[in-house]
Amino acid sequence: MPTAKISALGCYVPPRILTNDDLSKIVETNDAWIVERTGMRERHILDAGLATSDMAVAAACAALNSRGISASEVDTILVCTVTPDMLFPSTACLVQQQLGATRAWGFDLIAACSGFLYGLTTAAQMVKTGSQQKVLVIGADTMSRILDYTDRATCILFGDGAGAFLVEPSTDENFGFVGHLNEIDGSGAAFLNMPAGGSRIPTSHETVDKRLHYVKQEGQQVFKFAVKKMYELCNAVLRQHGLTAADVDLFVPHQANKRIITATTDRLGIPPERVIINLDKYGNTTAATIPLATRDALEAGRLKKGDLVLFAAVGAGYTAGAALWRWAY
Ligand code: UT7
Repeated sequence: MPTAKISALGCYVPPRILTNDDLSKIVETNDAWIVERTGMRERHILDAGLATSDMAVAAACAALNSRGISASEVDTILVCTVTPDMLFPSTACLVQQQLGATRAWGFDLIAACSGFLYGLTTAAQMVKTGSQQKVLVIGADTMSRILDYTDRATCILFGDGAGAFLVEPSTDENFGFVGHLNEIDGSGAAFLNMPAGGSRIPTSHETVDKRLHYVKQEGQQVFKFAVKKMYELCNAVLRQHGLTAADVDLFVPHQANKRIITATTDRLGIPPERVIINLDKYGNTTAATIPLATRDALEAGRLKKGDLVLFAAVGAGYTAGAALWRWAY
């Protein structure tokens, strides 16, 4: 039975940079605190007038160009995002139109920071069944549009960006999708959310006045869950496939906090040279962190054909996942 492989990737981050020093002029914070507690130094911010679909299209174009195929060859577009251009139509529709992906269908997937991983797993299953040949998985978030720049506990954490993987069939089982574990746990809903603008608390003057259209987070709760769950799922998916941490050539974790990543890798026993951390440059770009980190690993020559890659993420929901792939190019 054919498996699925990642055949190309592309990314986009907006040019405008917001540094820790810039943030210290907006809220009561400082570079030393942010670096020590998160590892972040700067993040990219999308200009007004542009939206998530614009970044998604740029990332998708980069992926298609690197594979040398046209948008009309794409079968499926999955856009993983919590910051769609609008609630409906889906961002996938807007991307399809802008790309000129004339044959494609698709949809949006909401799983916050685990979104890209869920999209990637969904694409792998679609390709493995033979029903789809070319699936574009895009993680794109314009977090700056839903951040409260009066709340120093959240506004320092996130940035904007997009990344796309192209997933295609692989007849060589030495390369491609190995396995995954995904979980959700709705008991975490209270700790990380955007309260208003949905059917429970529709938009009103009052919701705007109360700043309910912004990210709310109880950081320590999320932190503790992330460290525990990231370790558990990575360990479990490795064991499920008869592998150990020593078999992992590259660990590509969601980039939420350097301390979450190092706590996880210390417990797993994966040395720093096999872990990619780039949150210092981009902050937490939610669904875009995993493709951005993979791109940086590739460009740095830290990822080569045949390598076993372990992806892992935890996010709002709670959502969580870990996946193993053999890099295919
Ligand atoms: O992608 C998945 C979603 N998110 C996450 O994974 C985030 C998980 N959580 C975290 O990364 C961390 O909890 C944070 C980085 C958000 C916060 O770090 P922390 O070490 O848990 O700090 P804290 O919330 O316990 O706050 C410690 C102190 C507080 O002051 P007091 O009460 O001790 O006087 C905060 O008010 O630090 C203060 N503080 C700040 N100080 C300077 C909070 N934010 C800031 C800030 N600058 N930006």
